[in-house]
This record gives sequence, C-alpha cells and structure tokens, in this order.
Amino acid sequence: MIEFRDVSVTYPTGTKGLDGVSLTIPEGEFVVIVGLSGAGKSTLVRSINGLVPITGGSLQVGETDLSGIRRRSLRTLRSDIGMIFQGFNLVTRTSVMNNVLTGRLHSTSSLRSMLGWYSRADKEIAFDALERVGILEKAWVRASQLSGGQQQRVAIARALAQQPRVMLADEPVASLDPPTANAVMRDLQRINRELGITTVVNLHFLDLARRYGDRIIGMRAGKVVFDGTGAQADDAVFERIYGRSLTAEDVAAPGAPARAGTDAGAGTDAGAGADASTETGTGTRDGEPLDDAASTSPGSVQAAGTPRVASTPTDPAATP
Ligand SMILES: Nc1ncnc2c1ncn2[C@@H]1O[C@H](COP(=O)(O)OP(=O)(O)OP(=O)(O)O)[C@@H](O)[C@H]1O
Ligand SMILES: [Mg+2]
Repeated sequence: MIEFRDVSVTYPTGTKGLDGVSLTIPEGEFVVIVGLSGAGKSTLVRSINGLVPITGGSLQVGETDLSGIRRRSLRTLRSDIGMIFQGFNLVTRTSVMNNVLTGRLHSTSSLRSMLGWYSRADKEIAFDALERVGILEKAWVRASQLSGGQQQRVAIARALAQQPRVMLADEPVASLDPPTANAVMRDLQRINRELGITTVVNLHFLDLARRYGDRIIGMRAGKVVFDGTGAQADDAVFERIYGRSLTAEDVAAPGAPARAGTDAGAGTDAGAGADASTETGTGTRDGEPLDDAASTSPGSVQAAGTPRVASTPTDPAATP
C-alpha cells in the first residue's frame, strides 16, 4: 500500500511540485495520473521511489516511511520498485538480455555484475520477463535494433526482472504511435492483473487514461482535483482537471480498441502490427486516415468520450 498524507514537495527553486496531497493506493491497484504539463504528475510518481524527496507531510510505501529516509533504506525501497520512462532509458549498444539483466543488479554482487556473471536463476527471471512482454525471441538482439514499442517492452521486462512490488511509469507511451501505445498499455495492464504489481502510470492522453485507468487521479497545480473511476471521468471532469476545454491534442487518436481478455499473444501481435505500421509510416489505420478516423469511427467516440471532443477541429499535428 502507498499512502500520501498531506504530502508537499517544494523544489529548491521554491516551486511547489506537490501541495498537500493525500492519497491511498492499495496493493495491486492500477492507477493513472492525468493533468496538464507542470501539474505535478512526475513529482508524484518520483516521490514514491524517493527520486524526489518530500518536504512536508508523510509518505508510506509498503513498510517504508519516506520522510527522512536514509540512503541505505532508499536502496532497499528502490529494489522493490520498477520504473519505466518515456525515453526507455536502455543501453542500446548492448543486447536486450543484458538490459533486462540489469534489473537483477540489486541482488547481484557488484563484481559478478561487472563481469557479466549472472546466475542461472537470474537469467531465468530475465527470460520469463521477456516472455511476459512477448519479445523473448529478441533476447540476443542489440537493443538499438528494436522499434520504439519493442524498446519500451524491454524496459518493462527490465523492471519486471527486479520482481518489484510497485511499478511506476512516467509517460511510458508518450513517444509511441497510438496503436503501439495501446499495445504497451495492454502489456502493463496484463502484468498488473497477472502479477498483482501495484502500478502507477502518468498519462498524457485522456482516451488512454479512460481506457486503462481502473482509477484515475487528476492533478492540477500540485493538488489532487479528481479521484475516481475511468467511467466517472467524463469530459466535464477532464475540463475541470485541465482548467480548459478539451482539444484533439488531448487524445491519442483511435488506436486499437481495448479487447477483453488480452493475452500475451494478442498483445504481442498487436504490438508487432503497430510497429510494422510505424515502419511503413503510412499514417493510416485500417486504410483510413487517422484524422478522419478520429472524428467518425465508433471506436474514437468511445475513446474520446463524447462527440464534443471528437468534433473539436482536428489538428493534424496531434495525430502522429
Ligand atoms: N527539478 C526541479 N526543480 C524545480 N522545479 C521543478 C523540478 N521538477 C519539476 N519542477 C516544477 O514542479 C512542477 C511540477 O512538475 P512536474 O514535472 O511534476 O509536472 P508534470 O505534471 O510531470 O508535467 P509534464 O506533463 O510536463 O511532465 C512544475 O511547476 C515544474 O516546473
Ligand atoms: Mg512529467
């Protein structure tokens, strides 16, 4: 369980990143954080693993109290928390397997890891993690040779190899095209459901937030201004969170509709397809230009919430 009690973060510049946040995230929950740029989403997520120190209130993550935490306890805490970033943060000149194995570093002696001597058990954990994100066959490929979606899956596998209790993701799909973003979100959702890892994801796009957030937390100026289910988060709620009307830029575009019971195979297939479409760079899906799809397909109405969003003049730049 993660518990924020009246937590504030004031950066050395005097800027308030968090302002009196109180929030309880039970074990195994899948939470999506939304809000405008600068609302405090990254600050919230980073405070959970101590990357950003809190300056007021109290924050409990599992058994660890983060106020005044010492370096050694911070290391222990971080070994329990996997983190995924927008830019993947892989070592691209080495193999996928080596990248995933770095997730085992916290339980490997530094000499062994320096020499690349990982135990058989560590390698099995790494293979299992790659299998969960459907890219086992890429284990020996250089990370630089993978598509963006595949690289993000490697990053997820690396985090999984830590065998974490909590998974944090700061805009994990912001650099991916909509179908690939959906495929990666499905991976995260499936892992959350299969392994019960508490997952906190910052998302930019409202349709993805609605589709995947069992619980959505809206932030504005460092405060929690909404806390509810995806179903409750209608356009009026998002407008309140954003403090303005919604635009086409707030949705990721149609993407793949959420499919019930996605398994590893389905996620992988969708991912591979998405990656292929990125490579061809057609900018279309199912033969339709993305812009048209955004305003006409039933999927997009569901994705965007109400026709109000869908009918907002579409900025072509918003659909990659
Ligand atoms: N290292 C820092 N030093 C000073 N101020 C910071 C720092 N990091 C963030 N801030 C400020 O804290 C506030 C919250 O920033 P944060 O990065 O958490 O927002 P965000 O919601 O993640 O935004 P974005 O969507 O742009 O990533 C902003 O006003 C930001 O300028
Ligand atoms: Mg951020």
